[in-house]
Amino acid sequence: MQNLIINGGKKLNGTIKVHGAKNSVLPIISASILMNGKSVLHNCPDLSDVDAALEILKFLGINSQKSGSDISIASITPENYIIPDELMRKMRSSVMFLGSILGRTGKAVITTPGGCMLGPRPIDIHISALKKLGAKVKENRGTLEFSAKGGLKGADILLDFPSVGATENVILAATLAKGITIIRNAALEPEISDLINFLNAAGARISSGGTGTVIIDGVSELDCAEHTIIPDRIETATYMAAAAATGGDISLKNANASHMLSVIEVLRKTGCEIISGDSLISIHAPERLKPVKSVKTSVYPGFPTDAGPLLISALTTASGTSVFCENIFQNRYVFVNELSRFGANISTYGTIAIVEGRRALSSAHCRCTDLRGGAALVIAALKAEGESEIGNICHIKRGYENIAENFRQLGADIKEV
Ligand code: UD1
Repeated sequence: MQNLIINGGKKLNGTIKVHGAKNSVLPIISASILMNGKSVLHNCPDLSDVDAALEILKFLGINSQKSGSDISIASITPENYIIPDELMRKMRSSVMFLGSILGRTGKAVITTPGGCMLGPRPIDIHISALKKLGAKVKENRGTLEFSAKGGLKGADILLDFPSVGATENVILAATLAKGITIIRNAALEPEISDLINFLNAAGARISSGGTGTVIIDGVSELDCAEHTIIPDRIETATYMAAAAATGGDISLKNANASHMLSVIEVLRKTGCEIISGDSLISIHAPERLKPVKSVKTSVYPGFPTDAGPLLISALTTASGTSVFCENIFQNRYVFVNELSRFGANISTYGTIAIVEGRRALSSAHCRCTDLRGGAALVIAALKAEGESEIGNICHIKRGYENIAENFRQLGADIKEV
């Protein structure tokens, strides 16, 4: 079990490069199942979730190779259409392999993805949309068997909620389906546009006006493609929140400010000066942050749920009370108990978190409960004077490449032991 040891109290300062987006590269790796020949992905983050996704490809008989931040994938018709339970459990987002396996082979078998610390993560919206495309579904003691004799057929689908995963699964399933699929109330996250761009580069015919409607004109086969993964907007938000928390002054290269407007707006309200230019975001934080009256998470382009814990952590030392409202995940505040070990004063009431700013945090020993909650603990430890120890960092490693090295480059005293 690895831990992070952080000697906090130092203002972050310097420049680092943001990695490619975890939430883009995973569905894009899944999309390669629909293709033929060798695709090359640039700017891939080196994460345990990416390794888990490549393991699923390997199980399906598709070889891949990592070289630095490039991944090449030699796509062929999969030898298999079943994802075993141990691979499903390795990564919660393995459900997004469903659409591509089903779209390519006409069959797919997965186990029901378990709930996680953020609350139940049902896949009812995925399933009802895939049924509209003609899939039959049988559930047998936790195993879901999908089949579409004669292949999937295009349909007009209205999602009950603009679920990111369901939108991706329908796009993947419909790419090789016969006829036209329209997804209404589709999610608009930049990672979805990235997936569409990759598929279109390989010959798919998918359009999305950024209005919540995605139109997929099915094609009979795809070629391969070369593609650069977009920057990770949540990793960017993490370093920005850490700079804000520590009164720092940092610049982030390879970042995309246009994907982060809601986060930038909230950080500006805290008194941070933010300048963005060509792939660069610079943030200069005041000595003490101002509180923010109301931050409500919502679907893109609203304030992202994944950035909530990061901002909550930064605002624990603001000069007043901030109020957060979480509208996406039921148990998002699961990390708050651990954050309280630093002396943070946070009360939660269902979807609401009230953060009473304190002048300082104290160092603490704590354990990560989930990915973004874990990053929130790192931010608190960077702020708190003295030595903190954070355990269970396997959660953090699912979504952050070289987090300790990156913070060291920004002047933090942090090591992994
Ligand atoms: C993706 C992101 C995750 C982010 C989330 C919301 C990836 C790998 N993960 O997760 O980091 O926090 O979007 O921006 O891209 N829901 C249902 N039924 C369904 C599907 C979803 O009730 O069939 C509910 C979920 O329980 C949740 C909400 O809808 O409460 C949002 O889920 P969704 O947008 O699907 O998130 P993910 O794709 O799981």
